[in-house]
Amino acid sequence: VSERARALDAADPLARFRGEFVVGDPDLLYLDGNSLGRLPRRAIARLGRLIEAEWGERLIRGWGEGWMEAPRRLGTKVARLLGVGADDVLVADSTSVNLFKLVVAALRARPERRTVVTDALMFPSDLYVIQGALDLLGGDRRLVVVPSADGLTVPTGALAAAVDRDTALVALCHTAFKSSFVYDLDEVTALAHRSGAWMLWDVCHSVGAMPLALAAAEADLAVGCGYKYLNGGPGAPAFLYVRPELQDRLRNPIQGWLGHGAPFDFDSAYVPAPGIQRFLAGTPPVLSLAALEPGLDLLLEAGLDRIRAKSVALTELLIAGWEAELAPLGYALSSPRGSARRGSHVSLGHAEGWRINRALLEELRLIGDFRAPDNIRLGVAPLYTTFAEVDEAVARLARAVRDRLYEKYPAERPTIT
Ligand SMILES: Cc1ncc(COP(=O)(O)O)c(C=O)c1O
Repeated sequence: VSERARALDAADPLARFRGEFVVGDPDLLYLDGNSLGRLPRRAIARLGRLIEAEWGERLIRGWGEGWMEAPRRLGTKVARLLGVGADDVLVADSTSVNLFKLVVAALRARPERRTVVTDALMFPSDLYVIQGALDLLGGDRRLVVVPSADGLTVPTGALAAAVDRDTALVALCHTAFKSSFVYDLDEVTALAHRSGAWMLWDVCHSVGAMPLALAAAEADLAVGCGYKYLNGGPGAPAFLYVRPELQDRLRNPIQGWLGHGAPFDFDSAYVPAPGIQRFLAGTPPVLSLAALEPGLDLLLEAGLDRIRAKSVALTELLIAGWEAELAPLGYALSSPRGSARRGSHVSLGHAEGWRINRALLEELRLIGDFRAPDNIRLGVAPLYTTFAEVDEAVARLARAVRDRLYEKYPAERPTIT
């Protein structure tokens, strides 16, 4: 490990947080990009208590003792991560379902506008969901996808050219899942508003890795997931945000009972609840919500400014290692060079990316992830990633190519990568 990495770890104000997570094997480098955060130790205790004392002993009474409020209560914590009001976030469903609810609601509220503008860096599932919503609502509504010339970024000017008075909604990933490109939240939101369009941000790859100020940017809608930097566990519930002024104007297309104003009246007519509550559909997943809460608390304890500062320092160290050792071995930097426009992961392209990633996984004990066609995506999570790990990762990425370790792996890819 280099002097630089050692010094950075010694001076790291967040160092104590690593001990809050299960790190079974310190030699296994976990730089997954970041599709699934590590397990917080507190989640083990919290779930144990919930299962035994609440589910086991309190049984159905648990619903009156806090379970029912969990989507709103956790929403107040996620709100602090998003920089929005405490009453404007719900933790519920998956990102895809939340996106569907908000896109349909927004399009129905503005029938005179026909397009949704997005870009080619968008997470493909989001494109599928938006396209499905447009098909469902019909008319001559359509999706406009702004291309990316370099596959890494989209210039604001290209977006501006696509947004006009026919645009109902601009929907973008704040941090691009593949390249890690980060949009300027204020600038792009203002750009949408200049044409009277609403702005929806997917913050899956941003939330918990950097401070967000969605209210100050006047963003209208947002969605994001709980299993990446929030460390909520596999399939953790996602969240949605609706700007307060819009909450009572929008209707949740999934008119489930828990978004009803009086669900326990069991009335046959649907009357939406006031405020954010109407975006709930069915029964909250109490165990999964409980598993998510410790991860939220850890982020709030650590502070997002410190998290972002460490994230930038980690990715800078990785890029310095790329420049010195990996570029000569055929690795390309497939993420923005400037940290202001880069999230908490770095993508390295290599013609043998898929086979290198196999070698990393199977014999070099480095878990990153592979994103087609050639990206090895390496995520750093400031609560538990160390500078020494980043240094060691660079050494292993170099070995995979220098020692030709990838050559023994086949080029075919399985279905889940
Ligand atoms: C940016 C982004 N948006 C949306 C999704 C889909 O999320 P979900 O599977 O929770 O619906 C993902 C999943 O990884 C994602 O990375």
